[in-house]
Amino acid sequence: MSVVIVVGAQWGDEGKGKVVDLFTERADTVVRYGGGANAGHTLVIDGVKLVTHLVPSGVCHPGKSCVLGDGMVIDPHTLLDELAQCQARGLLSRGELLVGLGAHVILPYHKLLDGLREDRGAAKGRAIGTTRRGIGPAYEAKAARRGVRMRDLLKPARLRELVAANLDELGPLIQHLGGTAPAEAEVATWIDDALAAGARLAPHTGDAGRHVARAIAGGRHVLFEGAQGCLLDLDHGTYPYVTSSSTIAAGACQSAGIGPTHIDTVVGITKAYATRVGEGPFPTEIPGELGDKLRNAGGEFGATTGRPRRCGWLDLPALRMGVRLSGMQSLALTKLDVLAALPEVSVCVAYKVDGKELDEPPIDPDDIARAVPVYATFPGWGKLPSQAREISDLPTAARDYVSTIQRMAGVPFCLVSVGPDRAETIRLSDPFAHT
Ligand code: GDP
Ligand code: IMO
Ligand code: MG
Repeated sequence: MSVVIVVGAQWGDEGKGKVVDLFTERADTVVRYGGGANAGHTLVIDGVKLVTHLVPSGVCHPGKSCVLGDGMVIDPHTLLDELAQCQARGLLSRGELLVGLGAHVILPYHKLLDGLREDRGAAKGRAIGTTRRGIGPAYEAKAARRGVRMRDLLKPARLRELVAANLDELGPLIQHLGGTAPAEAEVATWIDDALAAGARLAPHTGDAGRHVARAIAGGRHVLFEGAQGCLLDLDHGTYPYVTSSSTIAAGACQSAGIGPTHIDTVVGITKAYATRVGEGPFPTEIPGELGDKLRNAGGEFGATTGRPRRCGWLDLPALRMGVRLSGMQSLALTKLDVLAALPEVSVCVAYKVDGKELDEPPIDPDDIARAVPVYATFPGWGKLPSQAREISDLPTAARDYVSTIQRMAGVPFCLVSVGPDRAETIRLSDPFAHT
């Protein structure tokens, strides 16, 4: 039995979907933990693309148990759409999906509030750049102990009471933020829709925590799929420019309700460069034409919102922080092929703040924003052979790049990805062979 956590080591979109799909070959149970449909995880299998927002990225392996942990915030309509999309492809038709009854529900007023706050924030120069999927407001309600959970969608009277109590407080806030408080008829429609969605999802709901605990006790291989990335963690990321959940590896235990002693290993995913969507400090961001070139070469447009991602050089101080926060024991390096578009490649090896060299980001986000990156520069390597399946298949300059960043990140690579397709992968070690 092995329990493996896969976690984004940067600001999200590192290629977690591709790696989780690959690792699911060896897993019995795949558990999405944390976040909601702010995530967009892309799988490409034999040229066919699938983007998952809520369902685990192990979904393309029929028969594997796919769990949504209690720590998630779930938009039931998005989940139903995704379920239908999967079933149209012959997936999730054997009862593989289990949604935790304790997971919180995103309702239309969460999305409304998220959008209003962003619009108002933008006007005042302090937007977060959220995905507007209602993530923050749903987690706020959870922390305030007035959230709506999946189990509440099965109890009409309770749902009506909860929504009324929430809107009693939120109606004036919506108006204050420039919106229109929802009319009674609209609220009634929201509730009817949520109940209908709840009824359709009911056969897929249950005690996710106990299910995962049983799988572990039964000696199964369990894979936890993180969303977002360590630098977007609510407690440890570049606050306030973060998401509203625990994206680090510890979030897996929290979300699924299992103890940390069950975890065998943590694998971090990092791109060979860096991207960020939304606002917040990004010291290695590449402005201008070169940044645009990298964005186009890497197809760096959000899998959820379609927004152009900000692109920059690999940031080793930020990566080291991710490694530390999640206790990563190995890393998967993705998108090495994308850098082939550039004549030379830089890597930030340290930050300089007030003349001091730092090997991890400073604690104050204002200091991160004014940090001056110290770069090492590598010669470019041209196009990678599309059939590269061993490190020795890579050009010497690409091999040097990989071995240098592995040494400087301080953890070994377990795979190097050289294209979006499942097959375009150099596998170096199997995380499930850990124990
Ligand atoms: P996630 O949120 O971490 O799952 O990542 P996204 O799916 O949002 O973004 C990663 C993008 O990079 C997707 O379009 C993937 O298909 C693509 N991708 C993953 N690995 C590679 C790779 O090694 N090379 C290239 N060119 N694309 C990759
Ligand atoms: P995956 O799982 C990249 C970012 C948003 C914004 C901040 C807060 O695909 O890697 P939120 O909607 O969560 O309140 O937005 O977090 N963000 C992501 N960035 N990948 C993601 O998910 C993200 N999920 C949220 O852009 O900056
Ligand atoms: Mg993504």
